[in-house]
Amino acid sequence: MAVSDRSVQPIRSQEDIVRVRQTTRERALSQGFSLVDQTKIVTAASELARNTLDYGGGGEVFIEVLNEGARRGVRLTFVDTGPGIADLDLALKDGYTTGGGLGLGLSGARRLCSEFSIESKPGEGTRVAITRWR
Ligand SMILES: Nc1ncnc2c1ncn2[C@@H]1O[C@H](COP(=O)(O)OP(=O)(O)OP(=O)(O)O)[C@@H](O)[C@H]1O
Ligand SMILES: [Mg+2]
Repeated sequence: MAVSDRSVQPIRSQEDIVRVRQTTRERALSQGFSLVDQTKIVTAASELARNTLDYGGGGEVFIEVLNEGARRGVRLTFVDTGPGIADLDLALKDGYTTGGGLGLGLSGARRLCSEFSIESKPGEGTRVAITRWR
């Protein structure tokens, strides 16, 4: 698998989340994603960026353009050094929230993507990676 483009963006404010959405849509478009597929990865990006800001205390996202044979994809990796998540299985359940949200961000992002991985250590931070293939 080849990474043909890689960028990093901060997630420190609402404006940063807007920029992450914009860049994600640009990359998906450049990879030939349909409008529906663009919207899926942009929606997932929005949810994860919001979590990075609200729960992770801010962080950054790596945005990568992937090519594997004829397959075209976009990978986003959200990283923060916040409090982490003690119980990942619980956090991934529909409806689980500690912040008064709907508790659908992580589970929704997982459903909207082709690949999903999450690593977290209490006291050290959280890393969530998603890939959507065209
Ligand atoms: N980056 C993170 N750092 C620490 N905790 C997190 C992080 N991301 C998610 N969590 C925890 O996982 C829970 C579930 O996240 P999820 O995005 O599914 O729901 P929510 O943000 O609470 O609500 P919603 O996204 O539906 O508005 C959060 O309430 C929070 O406790
Ligand atoms: Mg959320």
